[in-house]
Amino acid sequence: AKITYIEHDGTEHVVDVKNGLSVMEGAIRNNVPGIDADCGGACACATCHVYVDAEWQAETGRPSAMEESMLDFAEAVEPNSRLSCQIRVSDDLDGLIVRLPENQH
Ligand code: FES
Repeated sequence: AKITYIEHDGTEHVVDVKNGLSVMEGAIRNNVPGIDADCGGACACATCHVYVDAEWQAETGRPSAMEESMLDFAEAVEPNSRLSCQIRVSDDLDGLIVRLPENQH
């Protein structure tokens, strides 16, 4: 699926991410800066924080209870905040847009 990552300074990265990978893995494999993913996708670090574009919030769904409690450790959390390692890429997410927070640079 085609995923657009927008850095805090507005730089866009449009990459093709294989179905089944997470939005975090898609960023790491394509050298998109701004996602550190210290824990490697275990929902245990909150350094893969992204903001899901408003139009995609329904499609990406709500964070799980575990993700929700991990998000408490992220900075500048908004209602559309998600941990990108917890968003699984599929055809349904083709065209997804996520923005990267300033503090992950
Ligand atoms: Fe650590 Fe997502 S990579 S919480």
